[in-house]
Amino acid sequence: MDRDIKAGLLRAGIAAPSADNSQPWRFAWRGDDLDLRIDAERSGYVSDTRYVLSDLAAGACLENIIVRGRSLGYAADLQLFPQHDDALWFARLHWRRDPESIPREPLASAIEQRHTDRRFPWRGPINSDTQARLTAQTEMIAGQRLWWPRTSRERKTTLSVIRQAETLRFRSPTLHAELFSSVRFSAGWHATCEEGLAPAALAVEPPMRPIFQAMRRPAVMRMLNRLGAAAMLGWRSAWLPIRLSPGLCLIVISSTSRSDVLAGGRALQRVWLQATLDGLSVQPYAAAGVLGLGFVPVEPAYRQPLSRMRATLNDLCAPGYGIVFLRLGHARSAPRARSGRRSLESFGDFQ
Ligand SMILES: Cc1cc2nc3c(=O)[nH]c(=O)nc-3n(C[C@H](O)[C@H](O)[C@H](O)COP(=O)(O)O)c2cc1C
Repeated sequence: MDRDIKAGLLRAGIAAPSADNSQPWRFAWRGDDLDLRIDAERSGYVSDTRYVLSDLAAGACLENIIVRGRSLGYAADLQLFPQHDDALWFARLHWRRDPESIPREPLASAIEQRHTDRRFPWRGPINSDTQARLTAQTEMIAGQRLWWPRTSRERKTTLSVIRQAETLRFRSPTLHAELFSSVRFSAGWHATCEEGLAPAALAVEPPMRPIFQAMRRPAVMRMLNRLGAAAMLGWRSAWLPIRLSPGLCLIVISSTSRSDVLAGGRALQRVWLQATLDGLSVQPYAAAGVLGLGFVPVEPAYRQPLSRMRATLNDLCAPGYGIVFLRLGHARSAPRARSGRRSLESFGDFQ
């Protein structure tokens, strides 16, 4: 494998999504084998207890690399969590040049195009052919499913669970601190930034921006929460955009083991790439699925509501664990602001 191919594979991995744009990946080449690790400095924070968010990002990164490799004529033999006492080392890829037997991988052309879109409203419909294509992508990763709310009761219950989870992100002091620490206000409201969330990518309306920025202070958030701000924010950031979008689906993983969460990230990425090829905008909502697993150390007052949320989610999508919702629809234009990425060199030693 020459240098350019190796760099191309890593660039595909780096283009993957990650919670709060944390980009928690490290790469190292050992000859033509590629080792992928979770970056200790960019993982393990509050919502990432037990590496759930990092494992999802790891799966998405891994899938991008495998898909790009296939498009270049390379097959990957995959070893997951190669060393059981090394929690951060999530995969080793051994490459074989095998252009004849590799399946065609049309998803590769969507790797750089894929992005998060937090605007709304979007147009529909998401027809049954599109739903079937997205579902088929999930099922290419063993044990993974895509669940679509079908009845009005399912849609209503789903909306309510997502809204409660998003509300909690502003109500719980621990989650609030984490959420705002990832927003790079220093970038201003028009520029992008190479790590973390650029305010410009958050789709906050201009008149609301000074208030949103002031909310990063715990005292301001506490005061506004006495006036019902958290509930309003849950409504504005989740309920309303989802209600005004034509599609919503949920990645369902078969167990909460780390390799199944990672497989969920691979499935998430395949669905997202296919949606991109189909011209769909996508926004993930991870709070309901991830907080509900019970690993995140929120304040005791919120533990019971969270376990009720999990029970409701389990009833809806059983068997398995709903982990990330995806809001889908057709936007009129591409978003003006997208999250950036760090330079390739900052991801490790891959000379
Ligand atoms: C596991 C995971 C969870 C995410 N959760 C959310 C979320 O709850 N809300 C949201 O707006 N974006 C969410 N995102 C999207 C990331 O913020 C986004 O991928 C990152 O900022 C990089 O931007 P890009 O997707 O445009 O490349 C999530 C992404 C991943 C992989």
